[in-house]
Amino acid sequence: MTLIKNATDVFGERVDVLIEDGLIAGLFPSRGDGSCVLGTADGKSGDTGAVPMSCVDATGLIVAPGLVDMHVHFREPGFEYKEDILTGSAAAAAGGVTSCCYMANTSPVLDNADIIKSLSGRVNTAAVNCFPVGAVTLGLEGKVLTDFAALKAAGVVALSDDGIPIRDPELMERALQLAKELDLLIISHCEDEAEMAERDVYLAEKVNARLHIAHVSLSETVDIVRRAKARGVMVTAETCPHYFSLTSDEVSKQGAMACMNPPLAASRDIDAVIKGLCDGTIDAIATDHAPHSAEEKSLPVGRAPNGIIGLETSLGVSLTYLYHSGFMELSEVIALMTTAPARILGLEAGRLEAGRPADIILFDPNEQWTVDAGLFKSKAHNTPFGGKTLKGKVRHTFVRGESIPLQP
Ligand code: DOR
Ligand code: ZN
Repeated sequence: MTLIKNATDVFGERVDVLIEDGLIAGLFPSRGDGSCVLGTADGKSGDTGAVPMSCVDATGLIVAPGLVDMHVHFREPGFEYKEDILTGSAAAAAGGVTSCCYMANTSPVLDNADIIKSLSGRVNTAAVNCFPVGAVTLGLEGKVLTDFAALKAAGVVALSDDGIPIRDPELMERALQLAKELDLLIISHCEDEAEMAERDVYLAEKVNARLHIAHVSLSETVDIVRRAKARGVMVTAETCPHYFSLTSDEVSKQGAMACMNPPLAASRDIDAVIKGLCDGTIDAIATDHAPHSAEEKSLPVGRAPNGIIGLETSLGVSLTYLYHSGFMELSEVIALMTTAPARILGLEAGRLEAGRPADIILFDPNEQWTVDAGLFKSKAHNTPFGGKTLKGKVRHTFVRGESIPLQP
């Protein structure tokens, strides 16, 4: 048993959280004086009886559900020199992410049930919950659909050719239709973003299927999603912390370190993305954690691979640019990173409620820190936030009730 004492929830209420057998056993109003219904400050049991427990004093910290990141690249199998499931999941835990969905653009591609199953041993030893996203097309080649039913049976939580757009509209339409029949979600990686988002929204509307648009970065795309939602299209969308905090000016300052796909845009796009987050057009924040080696990222712009890591900065960037800047309430930012992605994917995660898995974070929303990628748990260091000051830091991460040691 573990008792988190004297925490504050995202709505500002003082709360104690009791963890038992990997689950949230209960949430209790905190007395705020070092004692509570269930225990005392020295760890002795309180009013309810003599149950031994460890206590975590969360005075000054916010307690929230562990973050859910619906879009990461863990590079396993095939590109373990960039990242692997264990280092990626350690980076997740350090960033307060307790559930993440890893994309299929590995080598071999996650395009069949056997390859998904072959990773299960690794996934079971990961620091956080990891869920596979299967490929839509064999080899991500955009030609032949994968066996959606077999992938679903193997445990994929969604399908995506993330990293590569599906250019053939007929194939995309068939994919959406089949996914609908199997109640699977297609996550669309739009290149020529607004144009392709428009096409995919049109196709989803035509076949009455669900569609999720990955990493929205442009004002036009926000408008397309907003209009589609108003018409009742079953579309959801995510953006990433870099699309509401950095403009393309970073590329002239940092070169390939600030290059990802879709690329950083203009300040009017940042404004539109923030507006989209505030009015519910954009449903979720995901990182698109995309590790690459230092050697790869030292190549000039255009030759270096696209992508930046994000797991260890997502909370800090989101709190700094959405909450501390006054655009959103703390509870709203956290909902975008927890309940919203869990709802989109149907995951049992992202809620701080009795009976749920004890995937919990404690963070200091006001702690200022300077990003030093050298301290990251990720194998990769490719972040454009290096040297930048963020406000908001994870202090404890619990996964299924176990406290994960974080870096200092
Ligand atoms: O910048 C990106 N990097 N965007 C993607 O969609 C894929 C990712 C990667 O796999 O490196
Ligand atoms: Zn991606």
